[in-house]
Amino acid sequence: MGEMKAIVNFGNVPVGSRIIMDRLNTSARLMIVSDLDHTMVDHHDSENLSLLRFNALWEANYRHDSLLVFSTGRSPTLYKQLRKEKPMLTPDITIMSVGTEITYGNSMVPDDGWVEYLNQKWDKDIVREETSKFPEELTLQAETEQRAHKVSFYVKKDKAQAVTKALSEALEKRGLDVKIIYSGGIDLDILPQGAGKGQALAYLLKKFRTEGKLPVNTLVCGDSGNDAELFSIPEVHGVMVKNAQEELLQWHAENARDNPKIIHAKERCAAGIIEAIGYFHLGPNLSPRDVGDFLECKLENVNPGHEVVKFYLFYERWRRAEVAHSEVYIASLKANSLPSGVFVHPSGLEQQLTDRISALGSHYGDKQGQQFRVWVDRVLASEISSDAWLVKFNKWELSGEERQSCVTTAILSLKGSSISDGFTWVHVHQTWLERSEGKDESAWIV
Ligand code: GLC
Ligand code: MG
Repeated sequence: MGEMKAIVNFGNVPVGSRIIMDRLNTSARLMIVSDLDHTMVDHHDSENLSLLRFNALWEANYRHDSLLVFSTGRSPTLYKQLRKEKPMLTPDITIMSVGTEITYGNSMVPDDGWVEYLNQKWDKDIVREETSKFPEELTLQAETEQRAHKVSFYVKKDKAQAVTKALSEALEKRGLDVKIIYSGGIDLDILPQGAGKGQALAYLLKKFRTEGKLPVNTLVCGDSGNDAELFSIPEVHGVMVKNAQEELLQWHAENARDNPKIIHAKERCAAGIIEAIGYFHLGPNLSPRDVGDFLECKLENVNPGHEVVKFYLFYERWRRAEVAHSEVYIASLKANSLPSGVFVHPSGLEQQLTDRISALGSHYGDKQGQQFRVWVDRVLASEISSDAWLVKFNKWELSGEERQSCVTTAILSLKGSSISDGFTWVHVHQTWLERSEGKDESAWIV
């Protein structure tokens, strides 16, 4: 084990955080640190529209120079489950189990340094022993939610305060230094004092500062009690989404009412995050999903990511019949494809790009009135010459209950002499990432 560690360490920074530190050459323009349930994800929005709006905004304008951090109370098990249920992006950093587990990148490499730090004045067995003395008030949560540095229960609202007080006294007497957090008017988490969403963020910010890559702006987003700590980190902007819980609003009224960097959004969940980006002038806040017609849209935020988002959004709208059934669109897409360019379908079939676009033409409205959504994740471009980019991303399609995705690699080149002239698609190659068994491959168009 000791040897393993030596291999995966470069200098003093473990390989996990290196993944993130090295992705950006300079400080992130914006780092968003968002809670998931009822903040990034709206469980009352079965169409996930605000989440999809956020996704398009992030991939088109921020992915290439900013950092997305999810900070959730969920354990890795329940976090992965949520990702299967909702059209969520892949964050750069994932903080789980109420700030007790930090992982980096798509492969979720854990931060071992953080785990070590949390062992101070913490003993899970003692916590279990003391809490067992409150069988009336405390109901243990599912086994998946009991983690190395987190013990979680359900507690009724009217019992929460008294139990919290009694428990802190009992655990202090036993020599532990714990933090007890009440969230959503039901969940009670017991963590080491040094843990929590706020402490985890402070730890990350310290790492970035050491590397000279402190994000230019940080925006924290939350809705419930375990998010309160995020708003007490100095220097960050904060948004409590419209649907924030009583306990968070109360915390704010008592502790941060005069902080102009924290707002209570007028919009719910991810729409509230977009609202805050605009309110604090943190960067572009017009989601491509809020742009009706791309042919008329001014080319302001031109970058390969924007081009990819725009194309797949058109594709979704074309099949849902949400744009006019006009040949002008297909002609314009063909004009943006290199005549000799090739499209490699995930089945391996090769076709001229322009033929593929023609095929798309005949699918107008075939998903009309149905559940059909398309989104792209992890859109990253590398410049391969002065006028061309290799763009890699994961493309997802949700059709009814079926979800499929493929890794896509595309070469885009500049159409004219300046970036505002737009892009030409030179080559597209797709490989299945996730696919339901026995599914008709030809249903996958582009
Ligand atoms: C998530 C976790 C749960 C925790 C709650 C509040 O729902 O699954 O264990 O108590 O967040 O932090
Ligand atoms: Mg929440």
